[in-house]
Amino acid sequence: MTDDGFQRVATLTDLPEQHPIGKSLANGEKIVLIRFGSEVYAIQECCSHADFPMEDGEIVDDYVIECALHAAQFDVRDGSVIAEPAWEPLRTYEVKVAGDAVLVRPHSARDAKE
Ligand code: FES
Repeated sequence: MTDDGFQRVATLTDLPEQHPIGKSLANGEKIVLIRFGSEVYAIQECCSHADFPMEDGEIVDDYVIECALHAAQFDVRDGSVIAEPAWEPLRTYEVKVAGDAVLVRPHSARDAKE
């Protein structure tokens, strides 16, 4: 873990373009990473509608992921709902890319700093 609480969870080469990949943080919390070129976004593991794994979702537009179960859509950049049936946003995580390393800051680390 770095001084600012970010932890390495993947490399860019682990992440196929626009394909959700599940990863775990050191505290066991599960997240889903999505890469768009050299940008990577991190969202909570399961859909806010009925807890279906977002790893099984599909990118249907720029920065938009669609849940595989009932087709709710979310903006991966801020977790906001684009299309119902979900109404609660997804939790997102801060991500840094350093060279090939993808680092994510758990909420617990962020909250400790603020
Ligand atoms: S569980 Fe994702 S839209 Fe219902």
